[in-house]
Amino acid sequence: MIDKIKDYISEAEAFSTENAAELEAFRIKFLGKKGVLNDFFAEFKNVPNDQKKEFGQVINALKNTAEEKVKATVEALESKEESKGIFGDLTRAAEPVIIGSRHPISIVKNQIIDIFANIGFNVSEGPEIEDDWHNFTALNLPEYHPARDMQDTFFIQTNPDVLLRTHTSSVQVRYMENHKPPIRTISPGRVFRNEAISSRSHCIFHQVEGLYIDKDVSFADLKQTLLYFTKEMFGKSKIRLRPSYFPFTEPSAEIDIYWGLKTETDYRITKGTGWLEIGGCGMVDPNVLKNCDINPDEYNGFAFGMGVERIAMLLYQIGDIRMFYENDVRFLEQFKSNI
Ligand code: DAH
Repeated sequence: MIDKIKDYISEAEAFSTENAAELEAFRIKFLGKKGVLNDFFAEFKNVPNDQKKEFGQVINALKNTAEEKVKATVEALESKEESKGIFGDLTRAAEPVIIGSRHPISIVKNQIIDIFANIGFNVSEGPEIEDDWHNFTALNLPEYHPARDMQDTFFIQTNPDVLLRTHTSSVQVRYMENHKPPIRTISPGRVFRNEAISSRSHCIFHQVEGLYIDKDVSFADLKQTLLYFTKEMFGKSKIRLRPSYFPFTEPSAEIDIYWGLKTETDYRITKGTGWLEIGGCGMVDPNVLKNCDINPDEYNGFAFGMGVERIAMLLYQIGDIRMFYENDVRFLEQFKSNI
């Protein structure tokens, strides 16, 4: 009987096919319920004790040979199928490819990055969960400073030192702590404020922060940089810097662009003035430079911050900020872009 099994081993070793049905017949013959192997296993109890060991070994060898042959042949057949699938019928109709679209916030963010990259700004990022120092204190907002109330803050658990950043100005501090001037960087990112949600404001939104530190930087440099940006972004060539207050800049200003009053929408969104506010800016307060170990007698510079949603709403004429976060595909698929 052992010779018979060895014959089967040779037969299994020699087997080869490119045909799935033949392979299945082979599998059934050797490994099927009523196959050769099961017959031999059933025979095992009748084998004299002194032959059991050798019998067991050859029968296992047969099992392994048959199983490996099936596995290898299946793989060979499958890879042949696959290559046929790819290169087979070149005239067949193409599979439709469904192209996704980038989120409008990402599109606008990438546009802003591109525009500032052209004038030498790099991109920097910081954490969304911040500490008090980077979000407030280093930015000239010490504890109990009334301007802290300008931004309703989400604190993490009960530790008042850990919070969700209320603005990307925190990245300014981190960047200055880790880099020596000259500095030209923009920091896009998500920010959080404990605010009621409406069509115009949300508790989560995005900002882009800009920071320029060097020797002898002037307010005129700030204005030219912002003018260049608004021309590139909106195609508008008139801006004004309206005096304002931020603790981290002195002097500070609000950035308005002249949108015009051509259409009814222009009237509505500019409240009849033609002017639109898009962010804040100013010359970095010497205290902030000191807090970041930069000598204010040697260096100075400007900073600005803008809301990404606001810019996207203006560009795409979106009337409700909540649309950005609802992930309704009917809204999202309207934004096809290669940026
Ligand atoms: N951080 C301010 C805000 O969230 C925006 C801002 C204003 C940023 C003036 C600046 C700046 O860098 O100079 O409202």
